[in-house]
Formats: sequence, C-alpha cells, structure tokens
Amino acid sequence: MVIYVCDDYGKMSEVAANQFAAHLILKPNSVVGLATGSTPEGMYSELIKKYKKGEISFENAVSFNLDEYVDLPKENENSYYTFMHEKLFNHIDIKAENINIPDGNAKDFEKYVEEYEAKIESAGGIDLQILGIGQNAHIGFNEPDKVFLKKTSVVDLTQSTIDANSRFFDSIDEVPKKAISMGTGSIFKAKNILLLASGKSKAEAINNMINGEIDPQVPASILQLHSNVVVVIDKEAAELLDESTYIRI
Ligand code: PGA
Repeated sequence: MVIYVCDDYGKMSEVAANQFAAHLILKPNSVVGLATGSTPEGMYSELIKKYKKGEISFENAVSFNLDEYVDLPKENENSYYTFMHEKLFNHIDIKAENINIPDGNAKDFEKYVEEYEAKIESAGGIDLQILGIGQNAHIGFNEPDKVFLKKTSVVDLTQSTIDANSRFFDSIDEVPKKAISMGTGSIFKAKNILLLASGKSKAEAINNMINGEIDPQVPASILQLHSNVVVVIDKEAAELLDESTYIRI
C-alpha cells in the first residue's frame, strides 16, 4: 500500500486525477471501477479538465460503478446514475454503451446481481478501481458485518450510512435503506485500487483500514492484503497515521 498525504482536498483531487490519467494513457481501453460521493467529485472535475485539454480520452474505456440505491428512480437527483452523468459522463467522450451502473430498479435482483458480476468478468475485470471510504470504513456499500461480502449483492445500509447520506435528501425518511453494491470480493479482484479520503471525519476509518486487524467489521481493512493499492488522502484524514508510513506530497 502506498499512501500519499496532500495538503488539502484540491491537491488530493489533482494527485488522484494524475494517477487515473496515467492508467488511461497507458491503457486507453481500461476497465475502470467508479465511485460516487463527495470525495471523488474533485478528481472527476480534474479529469474533465484533462479531457478538455486533450490529455486523456475515455473513448475506449469501460466503466462499472460500485453501487446504486435500490428503488430510487434513476432520474432522481440523488441517484448515482444522475451523479455520474452530471459529475463526469456528460462532460467526457465515454460511449453510453460502455457505462455500467447497477440498476436499482431491476425486476429480478437475484439474477441481476449475478449478471453484473459476470459482465465485469467478461470485460476482463477491473483495471483501476476508485474507492472512497465511509466513516464506518465501508467501501462501496460493504457495511461492517460478520463476514466480507464476496459478490455484487443487495445490501441493507447501516444507520450511520443512512445518517451520513441524509445530507443530500429533504428528510431522513427519503434516504434509501437498501442498495446494490459490488462485494468486497468483487472490489478485491481489481488489478489496481485508488482510494481517496478527505477530512477529519475519515481519520479513524483510514487508521483502522491501514493499522487495524483485518476484520469484516472494518470492510476496508481487507485492502491491507491487496498488492496494488494507492491511497491518496488529505492531512486531516491522515491525522492518526504515523508520519513514517506515508509520502507527503
Ligand atoms: P463521501 O462517501 O465521499 O460522500 O464521504 C464516501 C463513502 O461513503 O464511501
């Protein structure tokens, strides 16, 4: 695990976008796993700038999103479908047919989650997986649990995640209670992982992920065993880490 600590959110977003861009330049037909949430927004803005300057192209890239709320219409302003189109896809040259976002309104979820998993496999697996991290150390919507979730599944969101997500909704009752999420196992299969975090509220999750026991109660802790993880965080998210364990940039 290589850990980069940046001054602030802006620098974190730039460093992450540079990492992402390098993958795309070296392998234009990369399969990228994408994340939603406040954390990667800045990185997506930086990627749009790079695309507009002609530095990168998504023309041959294929994307798979990590998760989506269940039973929220995709046109809803809070769906991850809307988020991804507004924050990235509408501004770059990715082909619509190469965009994959879990369908939170699928008719037969059991069949659908298997198909999503199979589609990732048949695309050749994920080359670069982008991750944020929850305050409870979830990745995607892999919430703390007794076991690590292996495959894409329908999951119940924990109260802490529902509370964290309520900032985007008019009332807490409107926050979806279930989501489709790629499993920790599906995430772990990615060849490269780029995890971002910003702010004091993530410091404990980051410390537990890096220095704690490998424990499904800390879903991100499994990443200690992955051989290609780059962590890009700001100094507030790094405040519990020993300075000798990271690179300050
Ligand atoms: P955030 O969410 O980027 O909005 O903090 C991250 C996550 O919950 O994975």
